[in-house]
Amino acid sequence: MCVKFRGSHILSVAQFERDDIQRIFRIADRMEPYAQRRRATRVLEGAILGNMFFEASTRTRISFGSAFNLLGGEVRESVGMDSLSLVKGESLQDTARVLSGFSDVICMRHPLAGSVAEFAAASRVPVLNGGDGSNEHPSQALLDLYTIEKEMAGRGRGIDGLRITMVGDLKYGRTVHSLSKLLRLFERVHVVLVSPPELRMPPPLVDELRASGQRVDESENLEASIAHVDIVYSTRIQEERFPDREQADSYRGRLRLNQAIYTQHCEPNTVIMHPLPRDSRAEANELDRDLDQNPNLAIFRQTDNGLLIRMALFALVLDVVDLVDKYAREVPWHTPNRGV
Ligand code: CP
Repeated sequence: MCVKFRGSHILSVAQFERDDIQRIFRIADRMEPYAQRRRATRVLEGAILGNMFFEASTRTRISFGSAFNLLGGEVRESVGMDSLSLVKGESLQDTARVLSGFSDVICMRHPLAGSVAEFAAASRVPVLNGGDGSNEHPSQALLDLYTIEKEMAGRGRGIDGLRITMVGDLKYGRTVHSLSKLLRLFERVHVVLVSPPELRMPPPLVDELRASGQRVDESENLEASIAHVDIVYSTRIQEERFPDREQADSYRGRLRLNQAIYTQHCEPNTVIMHPLPRDSRAEANELDRDLDQNPNLAIFRQTDNGLLIRMALFALVLDVVDLVDKYAREVPWHTPNRGV
């Protein structure tokens, strides 16, 4: 039984300590046979996930839903504001009271910072934050850090001593906000922040990272900032957070990584990450598709790891970690080796 997680909301990575992160990661490891469809479990049979996404999403929405299905539960989805009675003036609090009567756990994405916490305060079941405005994206940061742990393990290293460069829209990018908070829990981390001056990471987050003992440098120069790091973590211009499209357009394409730049400036085996979606339009292209054959490109390993992390979170919050295998069986169908 895990009292700390059981029945808890997961709203911010700030609620975790280092031991909690390790617990989530080791449970995520155990989910691999289920995520790869070699085994099936019915441990959450009868349970319902309310998957409420009020903003566009491919990975987070579908992997939360798939993770719940893979544990044997059912998913009820609502996508966009227009399909709910919020458009008739119903409050987020009333919506939470109602929907938490229909679900065992709720995942929610909302365009406004703090709105998922507001919803959770009125919910009668655990709420998992799938991204609230430019504030936080806890499950993404967990899957990013889990990916970093695995990639570094493959190089005989741990997360302590990590050198990471975060690139792009660090002002509005909630994934880098949550990841920077998680990195405070480790030792001797060197973080380089590369962005246009107007899109710097919010100063309180930088201050907190420094206060935790980590070294933080800020720069506008991509090439000089990727030369001696383990990870380059690229992000998209978050156009949906800008006051108008023209402003977002003015930053698009300024900080691009492609194979030629990687070959010229990065150490061999530097890992390339991105929370996705990457903006592959010609005017943006922050992570060029000519990197797709680079074995150090970890972006699809990140998405695969997301399924494991989200399964682990459900297992912890619903307190079934030690029952997953008890309700398991081998699957009769052909399962291709998906690799990672
Ligand atoms: N990384 C991420 O949050 O992707 P989606 O917006 O597709 O969910």
